[in-house]
Amino acid sequence: MVTVVFGAGGNVGRHVAAGLSLVGEKMRLTSRKPHPRGFPPGAEAVTADLESPETLPAVLDGAQRVFLYAKPEGIDGFVAAAESAGVQHVVLLSSGAVVHADAARNPIARAHIAVESAIENSSLAWTFIRAGMFATNTLWWWRNSIRDEGVVRVPYPDARTAPIHEKDLAALAVTALTQPGHRGHAYPVRGPESLSIRQQVRHIGAAAGREITLETISVDQARAELGKTMPPIGVDAIMAAWQAGTATPPQVSTVIADVTGRPAHTFAQWAEDHANDFR
Ligand SMILES: NC(=O)c1ccc[n+]([C@@H]2O[C@H](COP(=O)([O-])OP(=O)(O)OC[C@H]3O[C@@H](n4cnc5c(N)ncnc54)[C@H](OP(=O)(O)O)[C@@H]3O)[C@@H](O)[C@H]2O)c1
Repeated sequence: MVTVVFGAGGNVGRHVAAGLSLVGEKMRLTSRKPHPRGFPPGAEAVTADLESPETLPAVLDGAQRVFLYAKPEGIDGFVAAAESAGVQHVVLLSSGAVVHADAARNPIARAHIAVESAIENSSLAWTFIRAGMFATNTLWWWRNSIRDEGVVRVPYPDARTAPIHEKDLAALAVTALTQPGHRGHAYPVRGPESLSIRQQVRHIGAAAGREITLETISVDQARAELGKTMPPIGVDAIMAAWQAGTATPPQVSTVIADVTGRPAHTFAQWAEDHANDFR
């Protein structure tokens, strides 16, 4: 069996590749770059762009399983290429936003719905990983200000979220790809614990071994700050999630433990894994 891992250098994709490698699966790993770094030794590396469907038939040739990132722009081309290559099962990294009440108006939800629908309407078997907020987002938001100034600036320091370790999403994907019983399942994944931003920053400080000051800024200042490293739809999504987290505790979930048989990582463990990113 050959499994194609799209985006095998990505936060989640790299752990999917590592997990499949550990259980001895034959893999083909993709990147849009001709010389990606960090792929497991011995793996077959290929160049592919989900938004350029003409690159896909060669990549999918002879493959039975796929780990996929959601790219609505090329999804019809992907489905056609996967069906004609004889792919049996696609595990898609999707988003919990697809089932939110505002999904029809939310661009992130709409993009993921478009990809899920195209796969559901195909002959491919599927598993959807509908993820909530990734812990890796904190790298985007706070890495630079922690490294350079020892500061985190947020509008809602007591907002709570339930961050997910990327290794847990990958472990779920590897289980779904390699074990029976996961086809046709859409797994809603949240982190295992609800933590305020204040608590998250404390965990990062403890792991990185440094004092981090938490400063409260206005919503407009926060939007401008986030906008330096994120597209506007990302900024909107984060601000909405933080604001919601001031009023209602976020959902947590046990899906990772239930499906993989291993407990999900805590945010403290995530911070330990990423301590060097903040030093
Ligand atoms: N951040 C969140 O809180 C959150 C929440 C729910 C769902 N999600 C989902 O998770 C995704 C982010 O996952 P991540 O953190 O693992 O992302 P990441 O680290 O940015 O990795 C994304 C991977 O996708 C590959 N990729 C990007 N565009 C591609 C294309 N056109 N064709 C083929 N491959 C392409 C990239 O590979 P190359 O650059 O090597 O080509 C990269 O390795 C989001 O896009 C979203 O769908 C995120």
